[in-house]
Amino acid sequence: MSVVKVAGRSDTWAATTPSCTYVFGVVRAEEDVRIVQWYWGPPLPEAALPEIPLAVAPRLTASFRDPYDIEELFPVDGGRRWGVPSLRVRYPGGVRSAELAYAGAEETAEGIELVLRDDAYGLRVSLHLTCAGDVIERWVSVSNDGAQAVQVERLDSGSWVIPERYGYRHSTVSGAWSAESRLGRRELPVGETTFTSRTGATGHHANPWIMVDEGDAGEESGEVWTVALAWSGSWRMTAQRRPEGDVAVSAGFGHDGVVWQLAPGEKLITPKTLGLYSDGGFGAVSRVWHEYARRFVLAFPDEDRPVLYNSWEATGFDVTESGQLALAEKAAGLGVELFVVDDGWFGARVDDTRGLGDWWPNRERFPDGLAGLFDGVRALGMRAGLWVEPEMVNPDSDLYRAHPDWVLHLPGRRRDTMRNQLVLNFARDEVRGWAFGWLDGLVREYGLDYLKWDMNRSFSQVGWPGAGERADRVWIEHVEGVYQIMDELRRRNPGLRIESCSGGGGRVDLGILRRTDQVWTSDNTDARDRQVIQHGFTQFYPPGVMSAWVTDSPNPLTRREVPLRYRFHVAMAGVLGIGGDLTRWGEGELAEARGLVAKYKEIRPIVQRGRLYRLAGDPGVTASAVQYNLDDQVVVIAYNPFALTDQPPRRVRLAGLDPEAVYEVTGCDDLATFTVPVGSRWHGRTLMSHGVVLPTWFHLGADYRSEILTLRRLDRLLDETD
Ligand code: DGJ
Repeated sequence: MSVVKVAGRSDTWAATTPSCTYVFGVVRAEEDVRIVQWYWGPPLPEAALPEIPLAVAPRLTASFRDPYDIEELFPVDGGRRWGVPSLRVRYPGGVRSAELAYAGAEETAEGIELVLRDDAYGLRVSLHLTCAGDVIERWVSVSNDGAQAVQVERLDSGSWVIPERYGYRHSTVSGAWSAESRLGRRELPVGETTFTSRTGATGHHANPWIMVDEGDAGEESGEVWTVALAWSGSWRMTAQRRPEGDVAVSAGFGHDGVVWQLAPGEKLITPKTLGLYSDGGFGAVSRVWHEYARRFVLAFPDEDRPVLYNSWEATGFDVTESGQLALAEKAAGLGVELFVVDDGWFGARVDDTRGLGDWWPNRERFPDGLAGLFDGVRALGMRAGLWVEPEMVNPDSDLYRAHPDWVLHLPGRRRDTMRNQLVLNFARDEVRGWAFGWLDGLVREYGLDYLKWDMNRSFSQVGWPGAGERADRVWIEHVEGVYQIMDELRRRNPGLRIESCSGGGGRVDLGILRRTDQVWTSDNTDARDRQVIQHGFTQFYPPGVMSAWVTDSPNPLTRREVPLRYRFHVAMAGVLGIGGDLTRWGEGELAEARGLVAKYKEIRPIVQRGRLYRLAGDPGVTASAVQYNLDDQVVVIAYNPFALTDQPPRRVRLAGLDPEAVYEVTGCDDLATFTVPVGSRWHGRTLMSHGVVLPTWFHLGADYRSEILTLRRLDRLLDETD
């Protein structure tokens, strides 16, 4: 069992994963009860657990601070506490200050549930904790066992204490549309630093994870603590750093100022907050998160993600059967396996002003439906996929004219549009029923293999007239509605795969990944910009879910010109797709692309499921290289955007190899392979300690050089073979 009782201590437990031990327990501070985190760090043997002192080291506090103020797993707004509360309630009569008593623990095969009660009002709080590989999963359920409604004003999944260190640095990603996932690493300021989305979705501006280190962790060494939240709606993560030195991170769903009414007998369950400690630096932390996603989140982690074609950048809304089939023919010729028809195929949707919500094939464009198009796609040997945006509606649509009350709105307030659209309220049963009905119908009618599920605006004027006191629950229940429909679609259509998209990478999180297979990383497909975005993305999410397309040059968004090979090599670092206007690619480009798609298929299992090492450089900014290891296979992709300026070191040192083993170079797609010829053999130790000279780094030519090196571990030693 992963959670054990600490011998000789009352009500104290330790959760041990391969990389850490987490000790916590009940403290009775005068009449108050706290669930306190005592230790979070390298794994401790069971015999050592009683050596962890069950007392907070004293500080000079006078009468202004409680000794346990920041050490709790679930600090409430109540009693002697002044930090960030995980729970804030208002009881009948306006009474605040939750006062929870410990009511026992239930140890299960998976973990533990600690039960707390506020007996005066019948509020029951359960703190759940389990281990999943190296990750500690925690969540909370709050039930109203009393006779009167309780107002919940804040309910986080819990708080994590970062052990005391000399300094604290935090790493997060931030960004915007077309500039998602930009990694930032800076000192954690004293005070409360909040990362949040108030958009109703995960958002482009921040992503629900944070890494904290002492300021000394590197790519492959040093202690790092990470906290994450598996949720796809509005969220909030607050890192509080006290001037005295303590740091805690509280994570939860929700939204400022909303009140979740909990009627008698009702229960609220939070999403999971996840904690990970590693002393292997940021690289090890990324690899553990990737592994966690594969083992505990993704439904089909071992399946190769197909090479897809999507014409959005090529045709925009100009979707016709003949136009799509012309592209499909070219795509099939390149080795594409899945053809996805994007926006513009339905209702009166010839631009973004109308038709959203009318999910039948556009009658002028597809008078006989989509069967002809998809039959054509299948005849070319490809699978069929379709773009949908189920949560949205244009006011100029039959759906809105029939059901204007289905959108989020407040009586007497404007209904502000963005991209000419409003948000449907997926908390409502009839809206969920409608959405599931047409989605399931489409998937079945056309035998769809793939849906790209998009969401192109943030919530505003968020109301649910008629729901009374439940109205603010829409912040939770809309997301649960999306989850429920996706889950049910997948249950009824086991072959269906889903891509999450929200104007690019606006809905990327471990909640959505539980019911989707990959995500659209960004609408920015410029290879240089993408390197920056992909670098931030893969700090937390695995390359095997990161959709990356090769599009035209100059890039339609940035106007930057980048050679085809470099564009491919950047997209091949994740799940390769193609999104350019293939009808305008010359024969030479098509032939080169065909070769690169074939190369990708060779390395795909290693890229999509391997262990990622960021070897060096600042991707997209300087020369850089990434490596993927899977079993005995190794793939290195090296990039150098510059010619003679900013020359990097000439050698690339590999990582994560068996130092005693011998590796054979099986492929090097640069012409100048004299430094690492195919068939040459190297000790793992040499590759990691001395490295190899890659032509891409060892300067030979123009801007935007890149190459792929592949190696295979031999099952015999060098001296046995020579
Ligand atoms: C936003 C997505 O990110 C794009 O890829 C495309 O699907 C458009 N929406 C279509 O409206």
